[in-house]
Amino acid sequence: MKITIIGTGYVGLVTGACLAEIGHDVFCLDVDQRKIDILNNGGVPIHEPGLQEMIARLRAHGRITFSTDVKASVEHGEIQFIAVGTPPDEDGSADLQYVLEASRNIGRYMNGFKVIVDKSTVPVGTAERVRAVVADELAARGFGNSAQHSFSVVSNPEFLKEGAAVDDFMRPDRIVIGNDDDEAGLLAREKMKRLYAPFNRNHERTLYMDVRSAEFTKYAANAMLATRISFMNEMSNLADRVGADIEAVRRGIGSDPRIGYHFLYAGVGYGGSCFPKDVQALVRTASENGHRLRILEAVEDVNHEQKEVLVRKIERSLGQDLSGRTFAVWGLSFKPNTDDMREASSRRVIAALLARGAHVRAYDPVALDEARRVLALDLKETPDALTRVSFVTTQEEALAGADALVILTEWKEFKSPDFVSIKAALKSPVIFDGRNLYEPQAMAELGIDYYAIGRPHVQIDSSADERA
Ligand code: UDX
Repeated sequence: MKITIIGTGYVGLVTGACLAEIGHDVFCLDVDQRKIDILNNGGVPIHEPGLQEMIARLRAHGRITFSTDVKASVEHGEIQFIAVGTPPDEDGSADLQYVLEASRNIGRYMNGFKVIVDKSTVPVGTAERVRAVVADELAARGFGNSAQHSFSVVSNPEFLKEGAAVDDFMRPDRIVIGNDDDEAGLLAREKMKRLYAPFNRNHERTLYMDVRSAEFTKYAANAMLATRISFMNEMSNLADRVGADIEAVRRGIGSDPRIGYHFLYAGVGYGGSCFPKDVQALVRTASENGHRLRILEAVEDVNHEQKEVLVRKIERSLGQDLSGRTFAVWGLSFKPNTDDMREASSRRVIAALLARGAHVRAYDPVALDEARRVLALDLKETPDALTRVSFVTTQEEALAGADALVILTEWKEFKSPDFVSIKAALKSPVIFDGRNLYEPQAMAELGIDYYAIGRPHVQIDSSADERA
């Protein structure tokens, strides 16, 4: 089938590449010439495992095209995916200007029946706004309701996770399609069924529903996941106070199949492009509808505070004035396998350490450039603080002579480091671990002063040094 993808961000690029991979003829549009140039030169503007190789292969076989030509993009696809950004407005609601602009262009240039798919996460009711914008454009062109220019708007939210996006797309748990039940809506549904047929061969994974429920499903899924994380973070803070171990508690509750093991990891809070934005947008949608989502308001509050929970631990251990101290920071992206720094906890932790006078030497396997860029913006009002953070290209360089190691992202390469050399490199052997990567008892036996989230702080075994 001929498919157009509008927007080459995470969702658009992964969707386009994966749909081309299963045999469709894909045209990717972006208004950003720089991104299109990168893609046409064999690069990929984001870091996502497997994506660059996949796109290179697809380009070599002529199955995917990248362009800024709006008219050609509309004419190409019988299915038009809108996968543009929906950044939060100042009040937390999703800014739909790019979605509506894409819709206007479809109305302006469409030349036959089109299925218009909302792939971006958009508030309930957006499909109706898209429909109205397209209809207005068609009316302006004098086409009214002609069959030649009919269309239907479908909601098909995306559930992929950054860092595992290609895999998630190629092996979906479920595909959600929301369509109208009029003639055009049923035709659109048939086309979507054909589009995704390769994913449903052995097992029907598609859930069909009305458009509003599909739009809502995406928000409810992310809100539920964010709730689990904030819940566990709250439990971890209590575990700290009552001397329980959140890791043991996690296993204890996760073994109940009604709870399950996934998404129960306490840490320095959730970040990324989805959870913070979607929780806020849902709270906003509720208040616009005269309703308060009290649980989600608390989820957001807890997450906000959680981003500084490690700073509180550092203060308790080293005092409030951190001037003259240097911290090695491992992990900057909001989670492993991505260079995405959106809402990353590292931004808050680093800013807080700098504000208390500390120096920071930061390392991340892939997010250094992005981190340098966003921290320069975050700290533009405090240029002196900015001079106290440096970015280094190895874990060891970050450690050399630092007062403590702070871990903020659970990259695989941090999971079993050489603790003896960590001890030797640091001025004093102290680790503040925001991702609970190590065992407190084992750390104490190694003579490392180890602080984690919701886990006991075990006194250092003084015989460790003799053994080392
Ligand atoms: C999320 C959803 O998982 C995905 O379905 C949706 O399409 C987009 O939003 P993503 O933002 O890529 O995906 O990351 P995810 O792996 O879900 O992690 C989000 C944040 O939660 C990260 O900051 C992560 O560190 C944190 N997290 C996750 C925890 O703190 N604890 C956990 O147990 C799981």
